[in-house]
Amino acid sequence: MTKPIEHFLSDYQPLPFAITTVDLTFELDPEATIVTSVMRFESAQAGQSISLDGQDLTLVSLSLDGVALSAADYALSETGLRFTAPKPVFELTVVTEIAPQANTELEGLYRSGGNYCTQCEAEGFRRITYFPDRPDLLAVYTTRIVAPKEGNRFLLANGDLVEQGEVNATHHFAVWHDPFPKPSYLFALVAGYLERIRDTFVTRSGRTITLDLFVEPQNKDQCDHAMASLKKAMAWDERRFGLEYDLDTYMIVAVDDFNMGAMENKGLNIFNSKFVLARPDTATDTDFEGIESVIAHEYFHNWTGNRVTCRDWFQLTLKEGLTVFRDQLFTADMLSPATKRIEDVKRLRSHQFVEDAGPMAHPIQPQSYIEMNNFYTLTVYEKGAEVVRLYHTLLGEEGFQKGMRLYFERFDGQAVTVQDFRQAMADANDVDLSAMHQWYVQAGTPRVQVETRYHPETQQLTLFWTQSNPKSDSQPPLPIPVGLKLWYPDGQPAPMQPLAECREALLETEKGPVFLLDRHQQTLVFEGLTQKPVVSMLRDFSAPVILSTEQSDEALSRLARFDDDPFVRWESIQTLALKTLMAAVDAVQADDTPVILQPAYEQGVAEVLAQVSLDKGLKALALTLPDLDYVCEQYDPVPVDAIWQAYQKVEQRLAERFESDWRALFDQLDESVPYAYDAQAIARRKLKQVCLHYLSCLPDGPDVASQLFDQAGNMTDTLAALQALNHYPQRAQPMQAFYERWRHEPLVLDKWFALQARSRHGDAIDNVRALLAHPDFHYQTPNRVRSVLGVFARQNFFGFHASDGRGYRLLGEQIQKLDRINPQIAARLTAPLTQWRRLAPPRNTAMQGVLTDLLAQERLSSDVYEIVSKSLAPV
Ligand code: TRP
Ligand code: ZN
Repeated sequence: MTKPIEHFLSDYQPLPFAITTVDLTFELDPEATIVTSVMRFESAQAGQSISLDGQDLTLVSLSLDGVALSAADYALSETGLRFTAPKPVFELTVVTEIAPQANTELEGLYRSGGNYCTQCEAEGFRRITYFPDRPDLLAVYTTRIVAPKEGNRFLLANGDLVEQGEVNATHHFAVWHDPFPKPSYLFALVAGYLERIRDTFVTRSGRTITLDLFVEPQNKDQCDHAMASLKKAMAWDERRFGLEYDLDTYMIVAVDDFNMGAMENKGLNIFNSKFVLARPDTATDTDFEGIESVIAHEYFHNWTGNRVTCRDWFQLTLKEGLTVFRDQLFTADMLSPATKRIEDVKRLRSHQFVEDAGPMAHPIQPQSYIEMNNFYTLTVYEKGAEVVRLYHTLLGEEGFQKGMRLYFERFDGQAVTVQDFRQAMADANDVDLSAMHQWYVQAGTPRVQVETRYHPETQQLTLFWTQSNPKSDSQPPLPIPVGLKLWYPDGQPAPMQPLAECREALLETEKGPVFLLDRHQQTLVFEGLTQKPVVSMLRDFSAPVILSTEQSDEALSRLARFDDDPFVRWESIQTLALKTLMAAVDAVQADDTPVILQPAYEQGVAEVLAQVSLDKGLKALALTLPDLDYVCEQYDPVPVDAIWQAYQKVEQRLAERFESDWRALFDQLDESVPYAYDAQAIARRKLKQVCLHYLSCLPDGPDVASQLFDQAGNMTDTLAALQALNHYPQRAQPMQAFYERWRHEPLVLDKWFALQARSRHGDAIDNVRALLAHPDFHYQTPNRVRSVLGVFARQNFFGFHASDGRGYRLLGEQIQKLDRINPQIAARLTAPLTQWRRLAPPRNTAMQGVLTDLLAQERLSSDVYEIVSKSLAPV
């Protein structure tokens, strides 16, 4: 294969011309859609060479100011088209033919469930027509859609509907105009046999916005939650950010075949149906929460992404990090702020930290890429959001909002950079934020080490801080805000009086004192402490770092008991759990040593269980062991077998030691009340699920789970029951019943596939092969592929890491197959294999072998090529 091109941030050049308007006409046909694009070029230079991107297009004709160009006037290639500008202002008309039905990559114009839809981010518009497909070209789009009336009840595009009518007896048309200049990645078109659910929202300035949700007719009764979420998001963005919606209509379309979660196309969002459809009997609490936050996320993009967009794709975190931060604030305000924060930290640590330590590690502003789709990552999104949160921590809510207002004042209608954002934050608050730049250009998770000394003679506490980053040696230090609080052992707050020379580094923020660690090494001394205090650190997870402390079990126990920061309380008990797990790994490796719960951990769990007033959501989190990924992260190389056994044994000990508590709590929570979506109800179900999980380790566990399955009044409980049965032969009958009941609901059927892909009952690889051969398995539908192969590789630890390498080979073979159908999905499935260097023999070589086989493929997409080649590259 020809080696794909690598793109560099340092190569950025502004476009030497503008395209002010784009008038598109689509004559829709599954096999041969004709797209006519009329572009008005301005400020070009006569004689200048102009290149347009294009991919998998058939060029029908090309004309300039109405005069047809002949083949000698332009150069056509695999990646685009080149011609010479005759003068500064002219009109270019391009006619192309495309085949939406054959488009299995789900980029550009494609078909899903018999409907037409588009996906243009990041570089999908070039699969529709020849165009400078880059985010810094903003144009005003008018879209005319012509299609058979049959099967195309609605014809939709961005902006406002300006005209519609009949073409002839069989065909009709619609014309849409979007007055806001936008980049091509925000273009969208939908046509199909859909049902419309309509509502309205009155903005705070009194404008009435029409809200339209389009779904396949059978899903009409699963839209209430999405609509309610949209209205909440609109009201919240006005309240907290002062941002109002700008068009008269906001449309959301749900489709079953979609590569990611959802897409913020101007005025016409397109969603994976997983993030729209929900009813209590079909969707779990996790699904409901996902819908609320993704609907909000895409809505928030209207300002952070669409009105102010990215100059180039290296700036992706400008819109994504900021919008994730905004949706995190939103969810915190809607549900429980403490639970939300802890869940986000868990995800960051278990997945983003792994990515940031592996061969695909990149800064939140990547410096180069081969395939942009590979850079829609946890790093750009989640770590990016943590970096935006740093501004919020340093500037406070008011200062941050001042910065946001200046950002929109300066950059509305423009395509800008992360530096522009930082400058607005800095200027609005009259502070210097230039040191923050390091957070954008440094890959790897920073490590912060702290040593604590208490001197009774002087009543001083000295904290020695060190920061380092094993992925990026010898770089300038990062500014790292560390939330701090001192406690006396009895739970009373201790005074925080820094010595004069340290005073500058201790900031007083809305969230309490924050120590700003902005050197490689730094010392902080507090005085006037009559007893040795317990130090509460990195409060509210104030920075995305790995903090190493040498806190004693006693200190951790105290923090778990009385700290007033929910994150630190949870973190303290997690650390105790981790110590128990790591000691268990040692015990398993030593062979004859029994696995025990360490006394401090056992005591901590008992105390959590005994606290009647503790929030149930926090209780559920505190009683859950750190996940396997997080345990693995503590090792290099990862002792897979020992971790697996140790984990099972610790879980078993917990189940047995607190058996009566799990039973009592489960019974107390297991009351049948109608489903409600609110923080308290969610927390109850979550805690019940944790109890059931431990009960499932005990001999009568399957009976308890079967009973819950029979009585469950909502999908959250049903799924908890099936999960608790999942590794036992008793799962057969309920799984069959579940299949019969839900086989025609694709999203529910995904859960059925996922349960089996996760199961340890029987041979995991045989199970997965059977699922792949099931008549309801479809390689073209990413949700289905993820629910089998994604779940197997990420959530079936035991099966995937089979020591003979069968799990890895199965995944490799499937990646190869999928690469021909949908490279973006194939590339995402490759991620688990990138971790091979952290495994011990024979697993590392088995994984490496699978990667080597992939690289030897003749037809490998640039998506998979990038990940595989970077994973195999010598370090
Ligand atoms: N911009 C989208 C979001 O975060 C995500 C996105 C990027 C996407 N590329 C995509 C969605 C491709 C679907 C397909 O909200
Ligand atoms: Zn986004």
